[in-house]
Amino acid sequence: MSKPQILDGKAVAASVLDECRTEAAELVKNGITPGLAVVLVGEDPASQVYVGSKVRACGELGFHSKKIELPAETTQDELLKVVLELNADPSVHGILVQSPPPPHIDEEAIVRAIDSRKDVDGFHPENVAKLALEDPTGFVPCTPAGCMKLLEVSGIDTSGKEAVVIGRSMIVGKPMALLLVSKKANATVTIAHSRTADLPGVCRRADIVVAAVGRPEMVKADWIKPGAVVIDVGINRVDDASKKRGYRLTGDVAYEEVAPLCSAITPVPGGVGPMTIAMLMRNTLQAAKQLG
Ligand code: GUN
Repeated sequence: MSKPQILDGKAVAASVLDECRTEAAELVKNGITPGLAVVLVGEDPASQVYVGSKVRACGELGFHSKKIELPAETTQDELLKVVLELNADPSVHGILVQSPPPPHIDEEAIVRAIDSRKDVDGFHPENVAKLALEDPTGFVPCTPAGCMKLLEVSGIDTSGKEAVVIGRSMIVGKPMALLLVSKKANATVTIAHSRTADLPGVCRRADIVVAAVGRPEMVKADWIKPGAVVIDVGINRVDDASKKRGYRLTGDVAYEEVAPLCSAITPVPGGVGPMTIAMLMRNTLQAAKQLG
């Protein structure tokens, strides 16, 4: 096989962020500074890294940002109060509560409490409905939006293709499937999950595989049809004593054995990860424009 096209999320994200910076400057001239509030409950180390990156991106683009770090013991009512205050804050156009919160928090109730016009994660039922309806005033969840953007700018045509999405989460799997089946993308989509019979066989049918399960290197070479496009959404920490920090990052795809079979593949890190943040900034701009 010839070498696969490596889908460079870092480079594509940089160009999306450049566009965002230019658009933000225009909005600022008109008296609107896009503002994002990021709420983190507890001390999950991976979440701390993600939240830090989101706040840093705001600074680099000239957005206003608020980072609200709450202790793991924060109650549902206390968190709800924070969300309601952010709903009422005119300097905040986007609100994001980092997932997953501690187990005593009812995450769905928190998401429903966020003003849907500020729900830049696209998790509120109103935005889920708008995605299904293909209504562009809704917010598309950032990770699947980033996957679609990466496919689009890489010149990968999804129309008429068989796509298999592994994972049925509301953050990635389900919205990804809706985007692929939309009138813009026109793929034929299967959503596979932990109870799917013969998962390797289902995957082997796919022209496009999107792996979003959170299991390190689960997708093996014999799951892949030669020439397929593979999008790896996984960012898994795997213990590695040879690394200074004690772990390495790996995707849901066994990259070394899968890559030689593919026509295109995303690396981990540097594939989908940077796209998620870029699309969050896009969504925040959209919120600022729509709210004014
Ligand atoms: N945790 C992992 N991905 C996401 C995301 O896109 N948004 C939020 N809020 N939490 C996450």
